[in-house]
Amino acid sequence: MNDVAAVIMAAGKGTRMKSITPKVLHPIMGKPMLAYVLDALDGMQVGDRILLVGHGSEAVAAAVGERARTVVQEPQNGTGHALQVAYPHLAEGARAVLVVSGDQPLITEEMLRRLVERHQTSGAAVTMLTALMPGETDLGRVIRGADGTVARIVEAREASVEERAVREVNLGTYCFDRGYLQEYLPRIGQRRNVQNELYITDLIWMAVEAGRAVQAVDSGDPDASIGVNSRKELAEVTRVLRERVNEKWMVEGVTLVDPASTFIHPDVVIGRDTVILPFTTLEGKTRLGDGCTIGPSARIVDSRLGDRVTVQNSVLLEVLAADDCSIGPFAYLRPGTDLGRKVKVGDFVEIKKSRLDDGAKVPHLSYVGDAHIGQRVNIGAGTITCNYDGKNKHHTEIEDDVHIGSNTNLVAPVRVGKGARTGAGAVVTRDVPAGATVVGVPARALRESPA
Ligand code: UD1
Ligand code: MG
Repeated sequence: MNDVAAVIMAAGKGTRMKSITPKVLHPIMGKPMLAYVLDALDGMQVGDRILLVGHGSEAVAAAVGERARTVVQEPQNGTGHALQVAYPHLAEGARAVLVVSGDQPLITEEMLRRLVERHQTSGAAVTMLTALMPGETDLGRVIRGADGTVARIVEAREASVEERAVREVNLGTYCFDRGYLQEYLPRIGQRRNVQNELYITDLIWMAVEAGRAVQAVDSGDPDASIGVNSRKELAEVTRVLRERVNEKWMVEGVTLVDPASTFIHPDVVIGRDTVILPFTTLEGKTRLGDGCTIGPSARIVDSRLGDRVTVQNSVLLEVLAADDCSIGPFAYLRPGTDLGRKVKVGDFVEIKKSRLDDGAKVPHLSYVGDAHIGQRVNIGAGTITCNYDGKNKHHTEIEDDVHIGSNTNLVAPVRVGKGARTGAGAVVTRDVPAGATVVGVPARALRESPA
């Protein structure tokens, strides 16, 4: 789609959000609203994007970065004015101009693709995206002539009773022929309207009067019409996006025991036969393998889990867990936690920046930070890696087959050699040789037969 340029309308004030955050930056399932629109344009490989922002929207410009060129529209004198302001900034080569709104994240890449394809095959001056609404709406009505072709758009507030009864509405998403815009964009506003604004929809009746074709493409989804103007609409859009994602994963072979309490962010990937139990949130770039059981009440962010992993009532942030791990209930795994195969992390365990090799177990009530724990190591209940001396963090190294007794404090930096043991309550301040048993405070090697 090299010859298509996009204009994203986002200069509106968003007053009804009652927020210090610009409307299009409000997050929906982990991404700003505007990112959904930009993602759809990415998918269509529309390279040239002009984003219209209002005065003082540096935050929006900063948030989009390289993903669009921002142009300030000030004052905001209507949708037609917005396109007039954007027009001179369009790339030379663009032959078609796709116009979308930053506050309609439910318009999908697939809908935009159909819109542009119809535009290109029909050679119309304007092709617009529409929806058939089941009930009352404030959107502009598509008024068709006696021959059934589109004649004009009438705003709901300006419509007659018969016009208001029309169910076909304008979604405010269009594809325009560049040559047509060049000629007719400056002529918008010749008919007055109640808002005394420049309406982009003037371009529809002007095309018809000029004998140019106008096409309408049905989005097939009334939800696509929802634009976010208030917190209520923000919640509605979130619900629809969530349902779309949930349905996609059920089709792919994932069981959602209660979709209504399951939140899967759009970039998450889930393997087959994984079961998601209620009150679970999967965020960011999380990837789950096959046959996992997640929840109830799990929050997993930017983590990668292998196959057959179970996670109950736990929080995982930037965690790696290989196949057959068992996590929780009530574990808190922080960034840098890296679990080998068949690792068990039980209740009330916190881990950060630590690697646990295959078969290691931390079953209860422990803190493990800045540590490497070898294969088959068992960490007794209440064990703490004392990794922080008040200034610096230090490393704890526990070699394979070590048995750490209950309530051991490992004062880092410290190393416990292969196969060694610590007694209950030991405070380990010095390295423990392989095979040794240490006990006490501070821990000392146990003689063969203690008194
Ligand atoms: C517009 C359409 C209406 C359609 C509806 C779909 C017109 C006259 N009417 O109505 O037929 O059903 O969209 O949502 O176009 N914007 C600017 N600058 C402006 C004005 C608006 O950037 O000066 C942006 C807004 O931020 C928003 C978009 O354009 O993203 C649409 O504006 P909005 O005021 O919501 O248009 P509607 O009156 O709802
Ligand atoms: Mg609107």
